[in-house]
Parts: sequence; C-alpha cells; structure tokens
Amino acid sequence: MTTHSLLILPGDGIGPEVMTEVRKVIDWFQANKGIQFEVSEDLVGGAAYDKHGVPLADETMQKAQEVDAVLLGAVGGPAYDNLDFSVKPERGLLRLRKEMDLFANLRPAQCFDALADFSSLKREVVAGLDILIVRELTSGVYFGEPRGIHSDDNNPQNEGGRVGINTQRYTSGEIRRVARAAFELAKKRGNRVCSMEKANVMESGILWREEVQWVHDNEYPEVELSHMYADNGAMQLVRRPNQFDVIVTDNLFGDILSDAAAMLTGSLGMLPSASLGAPMANGRPKAMYEPVHGSAPDIAGQGKANPIACILSFAMALRYSYDLGAEADLLEKAIEKVLADGVRTADLMGPEGGTPVTTSQMGDKIVEALSVL
Ligand code: NAD
Ligand code: IPM
Ligand code: MN
Repeated sequence: MTTHSLLILPGDGIGPEVMTEVRKVIDWFQANKGIQFEVSEDLVGGAAYDKHGVPLADETMQKAQEVDAVLLGAVGGPAYDNLDFSVKPERGLLRLRKEMDLFANLRPAQCFDALADFSSLKREVVAGLDILIVRELTSGVYFGEPRGIHSDDNNPQNEGGRVGINTQRYTSGEIRRVARAAFELAKKRGNRVCSMEKANVMESGILWREEVQWVHDNEYPEVELSHMYADNGAMQLVRRPNQFDVIVTDNLFGDILSDAAAMLTGSLGMLPSASLGAPMANGRPKAMYEPVHGSAPDIAGQGKANPIACILSFAMALRYSYDLGAEADLLEKAIEKVLADGVRTADLMGPEGGTPVTTSQMGDKIVEALSVL
C-alpha cells in the first residue's frame, strides 16, 4: 500500500492549536479510509529558535525536501519581535519556501453559503464567491538584492542618517513559470486569468505584464487574459469580487490581496493555501501547505482559533500531493456541513448567532461530519 509522507510543522501561537485539529482529521482518514500517512513532526519559527537558536534547523530543512508534503501552522509572535532579523521566526518560513523553490502559492477564496451573511460585505457581493489568487512566492521584493538597513551619514539632508533598502526584482523566467501555473489552473476552472502589477510605475511591472502576455499568446491563447493595476485590483476585489476567476500576481501584492480576499469569505481563519514547486520523482509537485493567517498572538492559548484554514490546507494536500481528490472533496463537504449546522468559532460569530465552539470542539464536529457524510 502507498504511504503518504507528511511533515507537520506546527510553529507558534495558534499554529499548534489548529494543527491538533488537523491531526484528528488525519487519524480519521487512516482509521476509516485505509489511507496510510507517515506523519513526522518538527519545529519551525520561534519554537525552533527556542530549541536550536535558529528558526529552522538544517535537519528540518532536509526533511522538508524529502517528504511528499509539508503542513505548516503559523510562525511568529511578540516574544520574538526583537530578535535579530536573520533569526526571526518568519525567516524560517521564507527559507522553506525559497529552498524548496515553491514558486506558485495558491490561495483560494471561497465563500461558504452559510457564511455569506457574516462577511463584512453584503451577501449579494460575496455569495458563491470562488476565486483563486496565484501568488509568486520565491522572488520579488521579499528576496531581491540589494537589501538591508545602512548608515547614510554622508547625506546631511537625511535626518536620522539611515536608509532601508529592498529591491523588487523579477526575471522573465520567474514570471513565465508562475504565469504557466495560473493558466493551467484556470483551464480547470473558469478559464480566465487576471494579472495584477503596477506597470504604470514599476519596470518590473512592465516586464511582468509583457511576460504574462507572452505565455498567454504562445501557450494558452484559449484562456481569457486581462491585466489590471494592483491598486485597482484591490478596489475591484472589494467592489465586485465575482468578476475574477484566477488572479496571478507578485509576491508582495499577492500577500496583501489575499488577506483582503480572506475577509470576503468571512474570516482570515477560513483561508487555506498551497505552495507548489517543480514536480518530484513521484510526479507530484514539491509542496507545502499552510493557512493564510498568522500565529494570532491576541487569541493564542484561549481555544478561540478557527482550525478550518489549516484543515482546508490539509484538504489541498490531499488533492495536490496525494492524488486523493475524492477525499479532499469529502473533507470540504464536512466543513460545509458543520458551517451550515451553525457551528461557529468566535471569529465566525455574528449577530445571527449559532452554536459557539472552541477550537477543539470545531475539530470534533468536523470529524463527526466526516463520519455521517
Ligand atoms: P494574524 O493572521 O496572526 O492575525 C490577524 C488577526 O486575525 C488577529 O486578530 C487574529 O486573532 C485573527 N486570526 C488569525 N487567524 C485566526 C484564526 N485561525 N481564527 C481566528 N482568528 C484568527 O496576523 P498578525 O497579527 O499580523 O501577525 C501575527 C504574527 O504572525 C506575526 O509575527 C506575523 O509575522 C505572523 N504571521 C505568520 C504567518 C505565517 O506563519 N504564515 C502569516 C501571517 C502572519
Ligand atoms: C503570509 C505571511 C508571510 C508573508 C510572513 C509571515 C513571512 O504574511 O504567508 O502571508 O509575508 O509571506
Ligand atoms: Mn500574509
């Protein structure tokens, strides 16, 4: 029987809390569907720093390269905010993304019908929402050189005497490969891609637009392609999100636009993601799955975290890393059922009420729903 290897990196804050709930789901699939997962667990972020003095140990990086998939909770928190930049928890996450070369970050935003009234936008704006943001994840201003904080002492005009530098840099090859990922995904959905940049003010934006257009014209002429400035894109996402199918954008714009898209679905606690790289020997892409949200220090340790984003991230792993599409559908249906039954963690609790549950109770309800579907 095939075993599916999975490296779990719970991380910090609510990361371990939501991961405990994913474990229940994994156990359910093992016990009831005869699927063998070979699960290992390790440290990332502040938790790794506390033990090893670095936010990701080399051995953990090595393990991540060898497994079928990685599932990460969240990293960061106030206890680590004043650490040297090079050992901040977020560097561990960025190292995983960079060294695994996970260039395509899929951030779907779907509005479950049961939550349509809960979104901060009107029901008619978000009902039926199903968009996919494809965020470039291994380049751009997150990684461009030169970067750093330097002394600017020789400049008498500069009060404070310092300068902070980051560089937005994209090669044509980096743009083409993420564009291909977006077009491929669009073909399996609504067949439309909207590319977002700021070609009006950035040369890297001009290159982005030209290269996405090139991939379209030469390889995917059958997919509908449009271009939009990212600031207008942010506005359009809130004005009429249903106009979009797949959005492809750079690392920083994708980070911001996907947090905005999260609120369309009702809560940041609902949004999963998959970060995919090149195919491995087994034909599946190198992959890491993570909720879009962070470590939520404001609610950590209180049983308030919504585990759905992390559980939906595991559903994406079932689909993209293990070729278990039917099981992924089942898990998503179980979540839909629980929400339709009015089960609500605190972040989903609106004026219309519902059954308030803790993180752990939400996990139990989802497992219960799996058993009755
Ligand atoms: P955050 O996503 O942690 O929290 C933003 C808000 O959303 C908070 O009010 C939080 O309580 C709420 N929230 C987030 N996830 C939730 C969930 N599952 N259920 C209920 N409510 C939820 O963002 P932040 O506060 O800007 O960042 C906190 C820390 O997390 C920082 O150190 C940041 O760098 C880190 N971070 C990590 C990741 C990651 O690991 N992928 C992503 C974003 C932020
Ligand atoms: C995300 C986070 C990360 C990012 C941070 C924690 C490095 O905000 O995954 O969206 O900026 O990419
Ligand atoms: Mn983010």
